[in-house]
Amino acid sequence: MKRRLVVLTGAGMSAESGISTFRDSGGLWDKYPVEQVATPEGFAANPQLVLEFYNTRRKQLLDVKPNEGHLGLAALEKDFELRIITQNVDNLHERAGSSQVLHLHGELTKVRSTGDESLVYELSPENYEVKWGDKCEKGFQLRPHIVWFGEAVPMFDEAVEVARLADVFVVIGTSLNVYPAAGLINYVPRDIPIYLIDPKEVSTSRKDVFFIRKGASEGVKELRGKLRIEN
Ligand code: APR
Repeated sequence: MKRRLVVLTGAGMSAESGISTFRDSGGLWDKYPVEQVATPEGFAANPQLVLEFYNTRRKQLLDVKPNEGHLGLAALEKDFELRIITQNVDNLHERAGSSQVLHLHGELTKVRSTGDESLVYELSPENYEVKWGDKCEKGFQLRPHIVWFGEAVPMFDEAVEVARLADVFVVIGTSLNVYPAAGLINYVPRDIPIYLIDPKEVSTSRKDVFFIRKGASEGVKELRGKLRIEN
């Protein structure tokens, strides 16, 4: 029985692939007002702006690729039952070969009906644009399949169950600023080792965390060494 390795990732996981984080200097929220592009109210007020914001981010996916951190995590599937819980909406974990990826905040490559949220569509890479007037099969406008601020996080309960069962828990590239995702760490049983990979200091309520003060690629390499010793 392989040990259960659970990894919570955030925007820093994709930084070395060239995708900006949100709260580092020059991050996405420095350039775009969150309330205008990542809230239901923003979409209601100016849907074209919101659709364009996500079209731009979706287009960027065509030019980036998984980094050594994504690839290093995927390779751990050989030795562990690996579950990735990501706040990221990019598809770099999947493209690196990870097979169990749970997207807490939705997925850039998917859109859904505004009239029936069970109608979710995968966009092919070349067909990455969604415009005002693009409708689902029932005639409702399509919207990004993204969890906006103020919206429910439907996958959170499943993520809690995964965190509760972890034999090892790892946090990579998240400032742990946004709930409920940031609260996941509190569901990890007290006796389970927690590693946190980030080049900067990250404050967390858990005191028993092993900090690896590095970027994702170097940090995952160091983590693999530590896990191999224990394994
Ligand atoms: N490797 C690892 N971590 C990095 C790197 C790197 N190369 N570069 C930066 N980081 C770290 C930063 O130090 C920071 O702690 O990544 C973290 C990024 O934090 P945020 O920008 O706040 O991103 P994140 O925590 O994923 O944001 C959570 O907020 O805006 C919402 O829905 C959005 O999912 C996002 C959520």
